[in-house]
Amino acid sequence: MEIIIQPTPDAATNIAARLLARLIREKPASVLGLATGGTMEALYRQLVSMKLDWSKLTTFNLDEYVGLSPQHPQSYHSFMWEHLFSHVNIAIKSVNIPDGLAKDIPIACENYERKIFAAGGIDVQLLGIGTSGHIGFNEPTSSLASRTRIKTLTPQTLRDNARFFGNESGVPHHVITMGIGTILESRHCVLLAFGEKKARAIAEAVEGPITAMNPASALQLHPKVTVFLDEAAAAELKMKDYYRWVYEQKPGWQKI
Ligand code: GLP
Repeated sequence: MEIIIQPTPDAATNIAARLLARLIREKPASVLGLATGGTMEALYRQLVSMKLDWSKLTTFNLDEYVGLSPQHPQSYHSFMWEHLFSHVNIAIKSVNIPDGLAKDIPIACENYERKIFAAGGIDVQLLGIGTSGHIGFNEPTSSLASRTRIKTLTPQTLRDNARFFGNESGVPHHVITMGIGTILESRHCVLLAFGEKKARAIAEAVEGPITAMNPASALQLHPKVTVFLDEAAAAELKMKDYYRWVYEQKPGWQKI
C-alpha cells in the first residue's frame, strides 16, 4: 500500500487527479471504477477542468441506493451526472451504475459482475471510506470475498449520509454495492480520505489486522493500492513519518 499524506485535501486531490489523468491519456479505452460521496466532488471538478478525452472510457460505479430512481436528486446516478458525466464527453452507453429499481436484484447484480468481466476488468477503482470502514457500501462484517449484491446499511452510515437527505429517516436502508471481492479484482485501487472523522477508519484499514470489521482493511491483500490522505485523516497512523519519507524518496520515474 502506498500512503500519500498531503497538508490539505486539495493538495491530495490534485495528485490523485494527475494519476487518473495519466491513465486516461496513456490508455484512452480504460475501464474506471467510480465512487460517490463528498470526497469525490473536488476530484471530479479537477478532472473536468483537465479537459480529458472520455470518449473511449467505460465506467462502473461502486454502488446505488435501492428504491431510488436515477432521477432522484440523491441517487448516485444523479450525483455522477451532476458532478462528472454532464461535463465530459463520455458515451452514455459506456456508463454503468447499479440499478436501484431493478425488479430482480440478484440477477441485476450478477449481470453487473458479468459486464465488468466482459469489459476486461477495472483498471483503476476509486474508493472513499465510510467512518465505519466501509468501501462502496460494504459495511462491517461484509464477506471479504463478496460480489455485487444487496446490503443493509448500518445505523452509523444512515447517520453519516442523513446530511444528503435532510434527515436520517429519508436515507434508504438498502443498497446495491460491488463486493469486496469485486473491488479487489481491479488492477489498481485508489482510496481518498480527508478529515479527522476518517482518521480511525484509516488507521484500522492501513495498519490494523485484516478484518471484516473494517472492510477497507481487505485492501491490504491487494498488490497495488494508493491511499491519498490529508493530515487530519492521517492523524492516527503510527507509521505516518515513514510514509512521508517513502514518498519523498520516490525515484523520479515513479512520481505521479
Ligand atoms: C458513501 C459511499 C462510499 C463513500 C462514503 C464516504 O456511503 N457509498 O462509497 O466512500 O460514503 O463518503 P464521503 O466522501 O461523503 O465521506
